[in-house]
Amino acid sequence: MANLVYYVAATLDGYIADQQHQLDWLMNFPLGDDATPYDEFYQTVGAVIMGAETYSWILENSPEAWPYADVPAFIVTHRSLSVPEGQNITRVQGEAVDIAAQAREAAKGKDVWLVGGGKTAAWFAEAGELQRLFVTQIPVVIGAGIPLLPVSQALSFSTVNQRVLKSGAIEFIADVKIVSEAI
Ligand SMILES: NC(=O)c1ccc[n+]([C@@H]2O[C@H](COP(=O)([O-])OP(=O)(O)OC[C@H]3O[C@@H](n4cnc5c(N)ncnc54)[C@H](OP(=O)(O)O)[C@@H]3O)[C@@H](O)[C@H]2O)c1
Repeated sequence: MANLVYYVAATLDGYIADQQHQLDWLMNFPLGDDATPYDEFYQTVGAVIMGAETYSWILENSPEAWPYADVPAFIVTHRSLSVPEGQNITRVQGEAVDIAAQAREAAKGKDVWLVGGGKTAAWFAEAGELQRLFVTQIPVVIGAGIPLLPVSQALSFSTVNQRVLKSGAIEFIADVKIVSEAI
């Protein structure tokens, strides 16, 4: 069965964006040529899921081109957000298990990229619908921001691969093992 994979970059102190939703700490960091190429990961993806905040951020920051035009996208939201014309983008709400099943079916055997953000990834994780985390940890501390995975129950992982890049960034790939008692 296809996995839901939260593929994301985070700071050393566990944030995926600063308080103003900026990614300067990531954009300005020279990741280096030994990092797993984005295209290599993207080839494994048959559908994407993201929350309303991440969707809005992407629309504001890449208005000329929706970056996931070749795969179905599911936006988890209560809002009636606008959708760029001609794109395969569906607004969804309801149970995590149903949304995950819908995305898996649309992915046609490939994995589903849970683009983020943290709140949406945590919601799927707590419902037992997040199978894998692929985080690139950038060696920078920003003190405050948007948390990587703000769960209210502890998650434990079994490591698939962990690699220190020449740049000092760390790629951590792990399967979600269990969701334990509330923290
Ligand atoms: N570093 C990276 O690689 C990376 C990756 C992805 C995102 N980001 C950043 O992360 C930030 C956004 O993350 P975030 O955690 O604040 O927000 P998010 O997860 O993108 O979106 C959260 C919003 O989605 C909607 N939502 C989530 N779960 C829902 C549910 N079960 N049912 C209905 N609606 C639901 C809600 O909005 P409504 O109720 O208003 O609809 C909720 O407030 C942005 O700054 C983005 O740029 C960074």
